[in-house]
Amino acid sequence: MDAKKYQTIGQQFGRRSWAEPWKIKMVEPIRLASAEERRQAMEGAFSNTFLLRSEDVYIDLLTDSGTNAMSDRQWAGLMLGDEAYAGSRNFYHLEAAMQTYYGYKYLVPTHQGRGAEHILSQAAIKPGQWVPGNMYFTTTRQHQEMAGGTFVDVIIREAHDAADLHPFKGNVDLDKLETLIKDKGAQNIAYVSLAGTVNMAGGQPVSMANVRALRELCDRYGVRIYLDATRMAENAYFIQQREPGYADWTIARILKEFCSYTDGAWMSAKKDNLVNIGGWLAVNDAELFETLRNLVVIYEGLHTYGGLAGRDMEAIAIGIEECVQDDHIRSRVGQVLYLGELLINWDIPIVQPVGGHAVFLDAKRFYPHIPQDELPAQTLAAQLYLDSGIRSMERGIVSAGRDPVTGENRHPALELTRLTIPRRVYTQAHMDIVAEAVKAAYDNRERTRGLRMIFEPKYLRFFQARFEPV
Ligand code: F0G
Repeated sequence: MDAKKYQTIGQQFGRRSWAEPWKIKMVEPIRLASAEERRQAMEGAFSNTFLLRSEDVYIDLLTDSGTNAMSDRQWAGLMLGDEAYAGSRNFYHLEAAMQTYYGYKYLVPTHQGRGAEHILSQAAIKPGQWVPGNMYFTTTRQHQEMAGGTFVDVIIREAHDAADLHPFKGNVDLDKLETLIKDKGAQNIAYVSLAGTVNMAGGQPVSMANVRALRELCDRYGVRIYLDATRMAENAYFIQQREPGYADWTIARILKEFCSYTDGAWMSAKKDNLVNIGGWLAVNDAELFETLRNLVVIYEGLHTYGGLAGRDMEAIAIGIEECVQDDHIRSRVGQVLYLGELLINWDIPIVQPVGGHAVFLDAKRFYPHIPQDELPAQTLAAQLYLDSGIRSMERGIVSAGRDPVTGENRHPALELTRLTIPRRVYTQAHMDIVAEAVKAAYDNRERTRGLRMIFEPKYLRFFQARFEPV
């Protein structure tokens, strides 16, 4: 696959340049703290970017989760909040938007994605069952394990290689999956946990051909497929751009077609759906739906609000419509690509092809002298902040955690630092600053030393762990 194929924005958009399909109506000032202030802030945060105060951050690329700018329509929607305990008008609007654009029958709102993961895992996994998926995600696997399941990675081999240019690195390896099903017995497979795009692989998409073939395979064995739809609109964009036969399809049509091959989905609406808080679960099976909406009242709230205010559900409903607009998704992914191209042109090692929501720096190649046990990706996140006040996130050995059976550290092939781009928040000039900051850290790489963990929380340690220089 030709790397250049993903590199020229002009080619993709059929014109010289491109711009966001919006203008800015309200601004939030940001400030670059001094080098000494940054040094103190990083020391106080024990080299963990999750422990920084946001006011000490200049450009915040920690996550694209809940950090989106809502549109004027969404803000207006907040005023239409129907804060009834039961049967809020906004719930029905959200249900209709989900049905229209994702195509599932039944909706259960939740406070965010992991609320939905919790409930689905409790309802659909029996202790001792296996949960195959296209690479783990931190909170998803945690809930699957807490429900007694064991996650098994069945993503294609190429996904574990940061430099491989496969256009659909999120694809499921169907042979690997079938071997697992035969080996364990179909009745011992809880479901296939499918994500589009795949966050931990670098925001890499799943092709339509792959999900269709996955459906056929699962039908042969009577196995269900649940989709992590968190960034499915971005996945749909990659299908439109890269998969033969879809260039003339709208994002909305591709999204709905893709979802039709799955039995249900969970969603962190804080990403694609362009809100600051919220999530949902959707399924087609009436019996499972009854179980889910019974469980939601224990953990989240009544089944017509699931931990959300009515106004939040309204903002999600409007966000669903906005996130499938072709011009929106093109500029959203285009901005990520813009940053990625700047770094590629400077020969800085990143995951390629560039993903949908973030540029992932390949910390193993960035710091070849720092062994994985000295946390190169965590080190790089700390260095970027120290250099430029830019906040990123580790996605490597710290995020991977320990094997629940052996207690040993997992050593993932990918050791990445994620520069995650919030939707509709930063400009091209901010991306230029970010690229220059990465370049400065790269130029200083030989003088950089690694970190060791001095405090390790039991669950999802990357959020709260503390580090010190080795
Ligand atoms: N699935 C995926 C693929 C995610 O990226 C996330 C969150 C979740 C599920 C959980 O959703 O945060 O609403 O509870 N990802 C954030 C991130 C935290 O920064 O990648 P949540």
